[in-house]
Amino acid sequence: MSAVISASLCTGCGLCAKVCPSRAVTLQKTAAVNAERCLSCGHCGAVCPAGAVSSAGEKEFSVFDPEGSAVEQLLQGKRSVREFKEDSVSREILSDLVRYAEMAPSSRNTRGRKYFIITGNRVSELEGAVIDNLNAIAAPAGIFLPLLRIFNRKRAASLSSLKNLFSAMKKSYDAGGHPVLCGAPAVICIASPKSNMQGKDDCVCAEQYLMLYAESIGLASCINGYTQIAHKAAETFCSVPENYRIEAAVMLGYPRYAYRRYVRYTEDISWIE
Ligand SMILES: Cc1cc2nc3c(=O)[nH]c(=O)nc-3n(C[C@H](O)[C@H](O)[C@H](O)COP(=O)(O)O)c2cc1C
Repeated sequence: MSAVISASLCTGCGLCAKVCPSRAVTLQKTAAVNAERCLSCGHCGAVCPAGAVSSAGEKEFSVFDPEGSAVEQLLQGKRSVREFKEDSVSREILSDLVRYAEMAPSSRNTRGRKYFIITGNRVSELEGAVIDNLNAIAAPAGIFLPLLRIFNRKRAASLSSLKNLFSAMKKSYDAGGHPVLCGAPAVICIASPKSNMQGKDDCVCAEQYLMLYAESIGLASCINGYTQIAHKAAETFCSVPENYRIEAAVMLGYPRYAYRRYVRYTEDISWIE
């Protein structure tokens, strides 16, 4: 089930199309959703000023609870944002983000994390390195695809679509676009020692603290899985010590659009009593 937009309520402002992470919303006179592309994330309905999106998949929207505690309101409002203003984020604020991120738990209290803060034009340079690395990772798939198609059609189809996605990213980047890092004014990569078996968990804990603190001070953020996949390129780019590995990357900046509602998910809980 995809998002449902009411043509009679839609004013055609196009905010939904701008924030849609999968570019599933197109705009003619009114907005329309391509059901195959829709992730049901609800970004469209959360920004719509006219309340024209009635549901995201089967999930309903709720308005922010003005009676809620500060933490409840923070969690209701926090979204993965990819549309940033051009304003840079000060060194002072970026340092504060890391200060609070480092308060996150770490396995055996090792707190061995390192933070790499990339800003300005360097973000776009990092993006180029990440995209090249993604294409290099996918290249061998091209050789094995014909064989894989015989033995495992489904796997071959998903590999082939990834390969196409990475090559489309390269085209967009070469044409001046920012398909991976979304024009974010800052990116923070978090690394942990390769010897730490729970290094990824440590970095993800810090990443979540960082993003929630960012939200509390009016900054928007979004995890960047592609940089994590292409961690080798990011490590070279940031001169990460040989014995460390980047396990998390977050895009940061000031949000271009405000979210008015949030998706009320149906939690899948099993009570064992
Ligand atoms: C492990 C992980 C990797 C992700 N990687 C990306 C990414 O590379 N690019 C991106 O735009 N969003 C990325 N996201 C964000 C999700 O796409 C996002 O959670 C989803 O669109 C729903 O939006 P919401 O967080 O506002 O509910 C990632 C999230 C996770 C947990």
